[in-house]
Amino acid sequence: MKLHLLLPVLTSLFSSLLATLPIPELHFEEKIFEDDNTDITCSFRYTENVEVNLEITQGNITLKDCNQKRGTQTNNVFYTNRTCTVEVTMEMDNTDFLCDAYFKTESEPKKMYVQREPTITDCPNKLVWVEGEENSFHCKATGYPVPTVTCKKDQAIYQEGTKHKTWRNMTGNYTCKAINFDSDSKIVEVFVQYKPEAVEVKVSPPLHNEGDMVTMTCKASGDPTPTYTWTTPSSNVQFSADNTTLTIEKMEKSHLGKYKCTAKNQHGSHSLEKELGLAVQPKISDKNVKPSMEVLEGENVTLSCEATGVPPPDLSWSYPKVEVNLSPDKRTLKIWSFKKDHVGNYSCTARNDHGSVTRTQEIKLAVKPKVLTITMKQSAPLLKNENLTLTCVAQGAPRPSYSWQLPTPDVLFSPDKSTIYILGAQKAHAGDYSCTAENKYGRDSMTRRITVTESNRGGRTETSVTTILTLLISTSLMIYLS
Ligand SMILES: *[C@@H]1O[C@H](CO)[C@@H](O)[C@H](O)[C@H]1NC(C)=O
Ligand SMILES: *[C@@H]1O[C@H](CO)[C@@H](O)[C@H](O)[C@H]1NC(C)=O
Ligand SMILES: *[C@@H]1O[C@H](CO)[C@@H](O)[C@H](O)[C@H]1NC(C)=O
Ligand SMILES: *[C@@H]1O[C@H](CO)[C@@H](O)[C@H](O)[C@H]1NC(C)=O
Ligand SMILES: *[C@@H]1O[C@H](CO)[C@@H](O)[C@H](O)[C@H]1NC(C)=O
Ligand SMILES: *[C@@H]1O[C@H](CO)[C@@H](O)[C@H](O)[C@H]1NC(C)=O
Ligand SMILES: *[C@@H]1O[C@H](CO)[C@@H](O)[C@H](O)[C@H]1NC(C)=O
Ligand SMILES: *[C@@H]1O[C@H](CO)[C@@H](O)[C@H](O)[C@H]1NC(C)=O
Repeated sequence: MKLHLLLPVLTSLFSSLLATLPIPELHFEEKIFEDDNTDITCSFRYTENVEVNLEITQGNITLKDCNQKRGTQTNNVFYTNRTCTVEVTMEMDNTDFLCDAYFKTESEPKKMYVQREPTITDCPNKLVWVEGEENSFHCKATGYPVPTVTCKKDQAIYQEGTKHKTWRNMTGNYTCKAINFDSDSKIVEVFVQYKPEAVEVKVSPPLHNEGDMVTMTCKASGDPTPTYTWTTPSSNVQFSADNTTLTIEKMEKSHLGKYKCTAKNQHGSHSLEKELGLAVQPKISDKNVKPSMEVLEGENVTLSCEATGVPPPDLSWSYPKVEVNLSPDKRTLKIWSFKKDHVGNYSCTARNDHGSVTRTQEIKLAVKPKVLTITMKQSAPLLKNENLTLTCVAQGAPRPSYSWQLPTPDVLFSPDKSTIYILGAQKAHAGDYSCTAENKYGRDSMTRRITVTESNRGGRTETSVTTILTLLISTSLMIYLS
């Protein structure tokens, strides 16, 4: 705003200041002629360098054709000269000219602000950031007082315009809020993209041998979704449309080697190499192997464990606490001179990275039959009409079978034929009773002579049926050596 002060008026208003203010002076040219141009100069000199506007008037007419100069005259005297040119008319003769000095002074500009609620003006709906870079929300708002703008998701609050490192967990919807005495808000959806990483190559099936169909699947994180490329030892492979899966229809030697999967998006790439080899679970050959075998005492035994697998499996054995002879490659186990202590289970385990398998053989002791005795459950001599039980006691493994040579077929046998019963002995029952015990390793016999005497006591007391039954049960007791 301009402040115009007419000097004479000023004098009364600011007398103390103006006491020192000079009066502008008018100067005419020495000789002035009608119809000629003449210069009229108003000169203002002052010891302060104040800006002043000079105006020369004649009556109510202000002279227009003027120019004003400002400068320093001598030390500490500043001047302002305004020179106006007028065409001289006789009407000017004997008239008053006047020079007015107007001070010009100005404040610093100061804006006026009107209280206004916030309005978000420039704030995109969607922001796409890249992980690891520095980013900020730019969400401009107008309003007075100037609103503060913050964007918030869960517990995370970000100041508008402030840069911060970006992580993928910043993806989400943010509420950006501009606040002064009132508020305005807007949802901003943030997407954080990142380069592929954590590449994983999976081979399926995990166990694979030559001739098998094998697939390899490559998977990587990344936003935008990465594209995949492979380098392979053999070109004889098929790719899925999106290159994530590679298929080997029939695995051959040429397929073995290093496979490299590269996942790539616009922010970078990442690779992983995977060695494809054979992977075969251990297997133990069952050829010429009996799950159970019998060995005669003193015999030498050789057990073998032929195992296959890739990588070749390691072999280990478990067996009874006896001395055995293991070959350095553990493929054979030898027992010198088989004894009862050697009886037990012999297990061979084949193990590699892909699993383990165990085969067990039970070795039993084989014993040739030997008849130890024929017991007679009756005090000799046998009286006529008495009952008799004869039991053949034999050892042998496997358990021997029994057969008899009898004087008469009129006898009863226990189920395993080791015992015979004579009910009511007669003369015909007298004779040699020969028991033979037999298994696949041999046979052995024993004979016992039975005589039947005429009763002189007129018959014994009746033997009850239960006695006979008890007899039958007790004699079915076997002696079996194992
Ligand atoms: C200003 O005007 C006065 C009076 O006419 C004169 O004496 C002086 O030289 C002038 N100054 C300049 C710089 O023109
Ligand atoms: C100037 O004054 C004269 C005589 O006093 C008058 O006739 C004229 O209208 C005035 N002009 C203006 C612009 O006021
Ligand atoms: C986001 O991830 C970064 C880096 O992994 C971690 O430092 C930060 O605490 C996480 N922020 C939230 C809110 O989970
Ligand atoms: C933002 O919210 C919308 C609607 O609830 C939802 O569909 C969208 O997935 C959200 N965006 C993000 C990046 O979470
Ligand atoms: C698949 O990979 C091959 C080479 O490995 C490449 O030329 C091709 O563009 C890839 N296709 C896609 C869909 O990524
Ligand atoms: C068992 O092997 C030993 C040593 O080779 C041998 O001397 C012995 O005759 C063998 N025994 C049998 C029953 O073959
Ligand atoms: C051998 O293994 C079989 C089957 O587990 C078991 O029945 C048998 O008792 C074992 N033999 C010995 C001597 O431990
Ligand atoms: C012999 O056994 C038969 C059948 O159990 C029985 O009836 C009979 O009385 C027995 N005889 C003697 C003498 O014990």
